[in-house]
Amino acid sequence: LLMDQFTGMDQLEKQLALMFNIDRCLIVSGDSDEQPKVIGDFGELVNEALHRLLPDGRNVIAVMGGTTMAEIARHITPLETNNRKNLFVPARGGIGESVSIQANSVSAVMAANAKGNHRVLYVPEQLSQEAYHTLLKEPSIMDVLATIKQANCVVHSIGRALHMAARRKMLEEEIVSLRQRKAVAESFGYFFDESGQIVYRASRVGLTLEDVQKIPIVLAVAGGKSKAKAIMAYMKNAPKQTWFITDEAAANEILKGV
Ligand code: G3H
Repeated sequence: LLMDQFTGMDQLEKQLALMFNIDRCLIVSGDSDEQPKVIGDFGELVNEALHRLLPDGRNVIAVMGGTTMAEIARHITPLETNNRKNLFVPARGGIGESVSIQANSVSAVMAANAKGNHRVLYVPEQLSQEAYHTLLKEPSIMDVLATIKQANCVVHSIGRALHMAARRKMLEEEIVSLRQRKAVAESFGYFFDESGQIVYRASRVGLTLEDVQKIPIVLAVAGGKSKAKAIMAYMKNAPKQTWFITDEAAANEILKGV
């Protein structure tokens, strides 16, 4: 059933892809806010997209964290072939999430299920400038960061700004500033206002948004009515090559506001 979505592009999917000016949109039925199973369906679609889109040769797949990404990782199946080798890395360093939903963990689970390899980035977010600069000079860390910069595929989610700020235990003054700047969305550790402008960057190492613009395969996954505003904000400047995987609830809410 899921495979049908790759062949026949539904009207709603076309409309959304056109509105966001991105290559592809895939919509799963249901509402991931209410039905956890829908996030499993996102996982199935991400898995199929990776099987289809990853070229032969050596791939570096950068992944972000979050609850959506953690569930997606559980649905990945072996991606290795004789000609295709896959290395999974976290897209950005330590953003203070709990361990099981950190990008490092998501990347490790994906690699295990894909029968690929993975690299861990050991850079915590809450560090003094001094400690941070020392860490970045460590050869092992420089090596992982250089690998991350070679990513030819990235898989990420999109979150609601204030929800993400609270979950990552950002400082009260940062939260006040996010409110003042009317942040509504978060992705890759960047916060965006309704017009898609960056109003704050939380995390400091790994892929930048400029890097993501140049990555050939970009899969963005987010659903639920509650994320509609965040999705619209992030998508204002999303890379054209993005494939966006969402659910009916988010899609209908987004198109209602048009
Ligand atoms: O950057 C976005 C967040 O990681 C999304 O988190 O999947 O738990 O909503 P979530």
